[in-house]
Amino acid sequence: MLSNSQYASSKKYEARLDLHRRFSTNPKSKYVWIFEHFPKTENLKVLELGCGTGLFWLANRNQIPKTWSVILTDTSKGMLETARNSLSRINHRFQYEEVNAEDISYPDHCFDIILANNMLYHLENRSNALSHIRRILKDVGVFITSTMGKNDLFELHIHLYHFLESRNNHFRFGEFSFSLENGMEQLTPFFSKVSISRHENTLRIDEVEPVIDYYLSFNGIYNDVVILPEEDVEAFREYLQRIIDSEKVISATKDSGIFICTQ
Ligand SMILES: C[S@@+](CC[C@H](N)C(=O)[O-])C[C@H]1O[C@@H](n2cnc3c(N)ncnc32)[C@H](O)[C@@H]1O
Repeated sequence: MLSNSQYASSKKYEARLDLHRRFSTNPKSKYVWIFEHFPKTENLKVLELGCGTGLFWLANRNQIPKTWSVILTDTSKGMLETARNSLSRINHRFQYEEVNAEDISYPDHCFDIILANNMLYHLENRSNALSHIRRILKDVGVFITSTMGKNDLFELHIHLYHFLESRNNHFRFGEFSFSLENGMEQLTPFFSKVSISRHENTLRIDEVEPVIDYYLSFNGIYNDVVILPEEDVEAFREYLQRIIDSEKVISATKDSGIFICTQ
């Protein structure tokens, strides 16, 4: 189960975003790319589930039609507060609501677009959430959800695994419960048309500290999971520095994309 502390504030999530923000080679951010898949008709009603820090809307701040009504939702008050603060600077009025995606009380068929970025894999009962999403989406509406594939950052994870193995620690990241590989079969019972599209990107990392912060941010994500033990941090720092000194950069594949679902 997702621990309460993981998203209580946006701090841990921002450590993960920072790695992508600083070292991505694709100049078009994933959020801008996702927005290109939205219909751009006037007067649409848009709902985002698990909005996090509101980064999607910040990235697309100059493209949002003024006539759109946008509701940002999350279960975490801390995330909603960060989103509200960072979006207060942009020229669009958003609504913010505390909503659990597994238990949605909006009326039937009231949204034109529903967005769920990198959050369906956190849900314990995804089928419940998907049937609510289907129920509150208009018949002509679109549901867009992003997630990762099995190759996401695998070159970076291999460095972590080699390091941990050398300390007799056999940790491995598990398979995502909702990924680019297994998402289609979970969505098709709810939507008659589902397509997939991938965002090409590679990280070229030439600094150690953001990698350390990235892995430390996962400690405790699910109950008492420890991915990088505190006592190993210094040795892992030296291990990564040796790789960067000899290879200049660590290249890591970003395997991410979206499912676009309609009736
Ligand atoms: C990995 S973050 C993604 C944030 C944002 N969508 C983005 O792409 O930057 C996952 C978000 O889902 C939220 N979340 C987790 N479980 C949720 C649930 N059952 N209902 C709504 N939001 C949830 C977390 O609080 C967190 O903000």
